Amino acid sequence: MFDILIKGGTIATAADVFAADVAIKDGTIVQIGRDLGEARETIDATGRYVLPGGIDSHVHISQPSGEGIVMADDFESGTRSALFGGNTTIMPFCLQRKGEGLRAALMDYHALAEGNCYTDISFHLIVSDPSAQVLGQELPALVEDGYTSLKVFMTYEDLRLSDAQILGVLDTARRTGALVMVHCENEDAIRYLVGLHEAEGRFEPRSHASSRPIAAEREATHRALSLAEIVDTPLVIVHVSNREAMEEIERARARGRKVIGETCPQYLMLTADDLDGMDWEGAKFVCSPPPRDKESQAACWDGIERGVFDLYSSDHCPFRYEDEHGKLNPRGRENFRHIPNGIPGVETRLPILFSEGVMKGRIDLSHFVALSATNHAKTYGLYPRKGTIAIGADADIAIWDPEETRTIRHADLHDASDYSPYEGLTITGWPVSVLLAGKLVLAEGKLIDESRNGRYRSRSRSPLARKS
Ligand code: URP
Ligand code: ZN
Ligand code: ZN
Ligand code: ZN
Repeated sequence: MFDILIKGGTIATAADVFAADVAIKDGTIVQIGRDLGEARETIDATGRYVLPGGIDSHVHISQPSGEGIVMADDFESGTRSALFGGNTTIMPFCLQRKGEGLRAALMDYHALAEGNCYTDISFHLIVSDPSAQVLGQELPALVEDGYTSLKVFMTYEDLRLSDAQILGVLDTARRTGALVMVHCENEDAIRYLVGLHEAEGRFEPRSHASSRPIAAEREATHRALSLAEIVDTPLVIVHVSNREAMEEIERARARGRKVIGETCPQYLMLTADDLDGMDWEGAKFVCSPPPRDKESQAACWDGIERGVFDLYSSDHCPFRYEDEHGKLNPRGRENFRHIPNGIPGVETRLPILFSEGVMKGRIDLSHFVALSATNHAKTYGLYPRKGTIAIGADADIAIWDPEETRTIRHADLHDASDYSPYEGLTITGWPVSVLLAGKLVLAEGKLIDESRNGRYRSRSRSPLARKS
C-alpha cells in the first residue's frame, strides 16, 4: 500500500517527458509506471505536468543590511511564497558578521529558520571577513559538516573582498572542495560613478543603473575568472545581466575552466527604464547588477537557450516599498545610493520561465526542469536525492497546470513585500499543487498543511569542486 499515487499526469525530468504515475511511500518516490497498485490517497494529474519541485539556489531571507533596513521576508513568509511558486527547496545566504566567525552566524540563522519553513532549505555562507581562523579552521570544518558552498562579493562597501582576500578564499575552497559563488561588479568604478552622479545632482533611482554599467560587471567577471584560474578553482558567476559578462564565462570555459553561470528573471524581463518610475517608483526595481536593456534581455535568453547559464534563480531579496524601513527609507528617498538593493521574485521565478520560455518555444520542458531544479541540485550537492523524479528521490513534486492563465498581482502572491516588479505580467502555466517529502502541502492553489515541516538539508560537495 502506497501513501500517495499521482495518476494520469505527464512527468518531466531534465532528460525525458513521459506519461506515467508516481507512487510515494514514506516521503520517497518508490515506483514510476502504470497500474502501480493501491494507495491511501490518489491525486489526479490528468492534463497536468508532474515536475520535480523547484530548487531556488539564490535567495535572501532575514539578511541584515548595513543601514539597518529590514528585509521583508522571514523564513515563514519567504518559504510560503516559494512553495506557491512551485518550489520545494530554497537556498538562502547566511551572512558572516565582520569580526565574528561563520559558526556564530550559522547558529543565529538556523534559529530563525527552525520550525518556520514550508519548504526544505539549505544555506550558502557569505564570507565577509576571511581571517586566518576562518580560512584555516572554520571553513574546512564547515565543508565537512555539509555547508559546501559560499559567496563572496566584489562590490558593496561593507562586503567586498580584495583580490588577495578572494584568492585566499578560492584557495581554501580548492583544498576543501567548497564551491565559490561570486558577485561580480567593480566596486571602485561604481564608487567613482556614484560620486559623479551626486556631483551632478542626479539622485533619483535611475542613477543606480547608470552608476553600475555593464563594463563594471564585465571587468569583475573577467577578474574573478582569472583569480579562480590562478588557483585552479571552479566558480559560479551569479546573477549575470548581459552579453559581455556571459562572453567572459564562455571564454573561460573555452580555456577549460569549470564555470557555472546563473541568470535571473529580472535580466530577462526588466530594463533600466523600469527604474525611471514617477514618485520614486523606480526604487522598486533597484537591484544589483541592475536590469539593462532589450539587447541584454535577448542576450540572457540566448544564454539560457545555449546553456551558458546552467542556473536560473530568483535572487529574491525582498524589501517593502511603502515603508520607511524599506525602499523608501528617508535616506533612500533622497539619494539612490541608500535604496536597498534587491527585489522580490521567489514565487514568480518559475511561472515566468514557464510562460516566457516553454510556452513561447524558447526552451523545451526538460530544459525548464533542468533550469528550475535539476541543475541546482547537481551544482550544489543535493542530487540525486533532489532535483529529479526518480525512484529513491525525495517526493518533492510540483504539479503544474500548463493552461492556467493569470496576471501577476502582488495581492495574489505570498511574500511579505508590498509589490511585485512583474505586476501586470500575464502568465500561462502555474504550479497548482506541491508535495514536500510526500506530503501534499499545496492543493489546487490552497495551502492545506500549515505545519511548516520543511527541513534543513546539509549537502555533499559539488561534483564540480570535489577533490579528485
Ligand atoms: O540587488 C541584489 N541582487 N541584492 C541581493 C544581494 C546580492 O547581491 O545578491
Ligand atoms: Zn549578489
Ligand atoms: Zn543575491
Ligand atoms: Zn517598517
